[in-house]
Amino acid sequence: MKACISGTGSYAPVKILTNADLEQMVATSDEWIRERTGIRERRLAATGEACSDLAVQAGKRALASAGLMATDLDMILVATCTGDYPLPATACLVQHQLGATKAAACDLSAACCGFVYALSIADAYVKSGMQHVLVIGAEVMSAITDWTDRNTCVLFGDGAGAVVVSASDGERGILSTQLRSDGTLCELIMVPGGGSRMPLSEKVVEERLQYIKMKGNETFKVAVRTLEEIARTTLSANNLRVEDVDLYVPHQANIRILKAVIERLGLPVEKVLLNVDRYGNTSAASIPIALDEAVREGRVKAGSLVMLGAFGAGLTWASAVIRW
Ligand code: UT7
Repeated sequence: MKACISGTGSYAPVKILTNADLEQMVATSDEWIRERTGIRERRLAATGEACSDLAVQAGKRALASAGLMATDLDMILVATCTGDYPLPATACLVQHQLGATKAAACDLSAACCGFVYALSIADAYVKSGMQHVLVIGAEVMSAITDWTDRNTCVLFGDGAGAVVVSASDGERGILSTQLRSDGTLCELIMVPGGGSRMPLSEKVVEERLQYIKMKGNETFKVAVRTLEEIARTTLSANNLRVEDVDLYVPHQANIRILKAVIERLGLPVEKVLLNVDRYGNTSAASIPIALDEAVREGRVKAGSLVMLGAFGAGLTWASAVIRW
């Protein structure tokens, strides 16, 4: 028994924030952003548009692509670090909006790795008897972005992507997932205020500690090393070679990170899904948005070998190989 991806979907908010717009907000330039990150524009949720609103749209599209009804779902997992509320889980709001009356629902917090972590959990549940699990990565990063901090505000965007993981007894399916973490590096990317360590207070707001802080340069180096390492581990665990990969769908954080990783792996750029130029870093939403784009553009066909690679706060890193 295997678990396969039976449908994909994504949703990007309508509003586009360009590098030229950012030039009006902080001391930056289109040239700096493009050269250092590869980002040209990103999407922003509208005022009042929350994580679950994006997640529901992506979820509906994934269900339609799988030819399923919401009532077919056994479970909904929403990977996010920007849920609608501290509680309840955003997945419960999605469950209600979709009308998934038979489904369990909970959120998963693993930052940019959240989608691959959730995919791994869905894989395990389907292998142990569930029929259909909806896995969504959805983020409104603009809500935790400090729009006065040029080090971070040029990087992030909002969006959602989803897949349905279903039971399958053929060749196709998730071949394996690899998940890693290293909490000694937790301070490289964090939102220091607003949690139980430093509850929301006037001081937190004054010092802008409710927003994301990142040591970009150190993060960059660890990202390149861990993405390469986990891709190699995953392939060798499945007796596969880099040449066997038809499409690599990495977390879209920075074009320079991705180019360094694929060069080290020896993967040709034609075999890599790159859309960071249009969405920026959408954290847990980044891989499922990219995967859905690959499916819609016909870059993934029956029998294709797809490899996912993620990296993010925690630190966490993760990968998956899937026979489509
Ligand atoms: O998804 C979670 C994982 N996150 C990541 O993977 C992010 C990883 N890191 C990065 O993508 C890169 O480190 C950044 C894009 C964040 C920064 O690029 P960098 O090449 O590492 O630049 P840097 O941090 O070394 O900064 C270089 C210079 C600094 O100026 P000084 O100190 O050399 O005078 C910054 O102040 O660039 C300056 N700078 C900017 N200049 C114009 C930083 N942000 C900007 C900006 N516009 N937006």
